[in-house]
Amino acid sequence: MKRIAVFASGTGTNFEAIARAIEEGRLAAKIALVVVDQPQAAIIEKAQKRAIETFVFRARDYADKAAYEREILTRCQAAGVEWIVLAGYMRILSDLLLEAYPNKIINIHPSLLPAFKGKDAIGQAIAYGVKVMGVSIHYVNRDLDGGRIIAQQAFAVQEGWTHEEIEQQVHAIEHELYPNTLKMILEKESRGQEE
Ligand code: GAR
Repeated sequence: MKRIAVFASGTGTNFEAIARAIEEGRLAAKIALVVVDQPQAAIIEKAQKRAIETFVFRARDYADKAAYEREILTRCQAAGVEWIVLAGYMRILSDLLLEAYPNKIINIHPSLLPAFKGKDAIGQAIAYGVKVMGVSIHYVNRDLDGGRIIAQQAFAVQEGWTHEEIEQQVHAIEHELYPNTLKMILEKESRGQEE
């Protein structure tokens, strides 16, 4: 069973979708650790309800990024983490984690990359007036939202949809696409294939 860590900053609906896929036998993996950088984030309760080890930190309690990432890395290694799954983790990873987990860190982003990188991708897309939006899952490298794309799914924006309705559509897609893509990656790895 592959051991994964989920990193998040917010609500944790993607974490929940992955946890549910595991619980229902649709994904063979174990969430060995949850890492959260916001002590008020709703994901914390969701993880604790499932008795999953959770590391909550505040960046400002550390001297710098290297200091908190060293602690994250130590915790990942202690929990036997093999893959890092970013699910709404709103921080850029440094080389420390990237080099410790080469090609083993993936992220989900609410746009059809390479369009609308960075924060508030949905708001950026709305401001542009795009008629087709989507979700991307990609490897994480040094470039913000710039790693190789693993999976994408598009949808047509209906006339008059609000930001909230678009976000609901994004989430509905993410909650299927992330567990399914993880399953594909982990199965390929078990067969000795790269994605
Ligand atoms: C998701 O929609 C994810 O695509 C986005 O944050 C949301 C987290 O929701 N990620 C990014 O914008 C990364 N740049 P969740 O906490 O309910 O899973």
